Amino acid sequence: MIPVNADRFLADLHHLRSIGAAGVGKGVVRPAYTEADIEARKWLAEQMRAAGLTPHFDPVGNLFGLTEGPSLLMGSHSDSQPEGGWLDGALGVIAALEVARASREAGGPPISVVSFEDEEGRFGVTTGSAIWSGNLALDKADTLSDHGGLTFAEARTAFADLAGDFVDPSRFTGFVEMHIEQGPTLDTSGEQIGVVTDIVGIRDMRITMEGQQNHAGTTPIHLRKDAFQALSAFSTAINDRFRNVVTPSTVWTIGHVSLHPNASSIVPGKVTFSMQWRDGEIDRLGRMEQIIRDTAEEIAKARGMTLSYGPMLGLDPVKMDETLRAALSKGAETVAPGNWRNMPSGALHDATNVSKLMPVAMLFVPSINGISHDFAEDTAEVDLVAGLKVLAHAAAQQ
Ligand code: GLV
Ligand code: MN
Ligand code: MN
Repeated sequence: MIPVNADRFLADLHHLRSIGAAGVGKGVVRPAYTEADIEARKWLAEQMRAAGLTPHFDPVGNLFGLTEGPSLLMGSHSDSQPEGGWLDGALGVIAALEVARASREAGGPPISVVSFEDEEGRFGVTTGSAIWSGNLALDKADTLSDHGGLTFAEARTAFADLAGDFVDPSRFTGFVEMHIEQGPTLDTSGEQIGVVTDIVGIRDMRITMEGQQNHAGTTPIHLRKDAFQALSAFSTAINDRFRNVVTPSTVWTIGHVSLHPNASSIVPGKVTFSMQWRDGEIDRLGRMEQIIRDTAEEIAKARGMTLSYGPMLGLDPVKMDETLRAALSKGAETVAPGNWRNMPSGALHDATNVSKLMPVAMLFVPSINGISHDFAEDTAEVDLVAGLKVLAHAAAQQ
């Protein structure tokens, strides 16, 4: 067992939270490439150096803390959603830092640390690790833009002065990511640890429907080409049409809507919205895509509107590595005997991309009330420390 220091781990976690602290409770606003994100990464790089690791930024802002020679890699991401909690990603990075640091101090196995950039998808879907793993080509990523129109190529110049090359993944023997569950399963069951079996797949694209902007008082309803009404009809129709295709664990979300010109007295002429769907089976993701495209075309045609799609982004479902999973299960049984479970991940993680390069595994700790991607996201400190210890157990077995 690597003798991790729980107080030092919690102090670092709270320090990271202070960079971009916002909203009520323990809220954080630290989206990728914002000032807070860059400040947090520079602070993390200092902590890595102080721990005896060599900090290294790659061309997209992924930050590694490297040991010399081959090592296990551990970590997650330190960017947040536009409104996020203090643990999503940050927990996995700080836990990895503590395990790596404690292992060095105790003469344990070599462990490198990573904080991937833009896991939260300001520009893509888990953008930084997708590029590192080869799941997303850098030249394609450079053309992606955020909802404000800033391109990825422009955003990543924030790291131009610090960046070296991409890190050669062959120096790592495997990757382990600790994360909050971000759902209700462990909180409801009262179990302390989840050992992840597999991670669902995701598809994500923007859809634009364009009709005719007009006066909200004088334009008869039957003559309107109203973009909001088209979106509303589309949402209702897919909810109905998905019924024969989905399972209780399939999810879909229209999370970002940009309505033009967004004024009370103007019939909106244009809408661009995000359409995201997730499931554990590639075939089902494909059938849902067909329904989405057919429905959007039907609705646009019936209303005399034009339709266009942004780039289709996505990641396929992946299974965790059996050997690393067994190491985490052994750690879980030691730290929380009889009080842990195997479970799938409905959230997406950098581990999906990294699984293309090396064996990967993940562990979860409970999210209070199952809330995440919200300022209210939290986990009991006793559970955070239990997760840290499971991670340390798994690392010690390498
Ligand atoms: C990652 O934050 C996700 O959206 O699952
Ligand atoms: Mn995350
Ligand atoms: Mn997240």
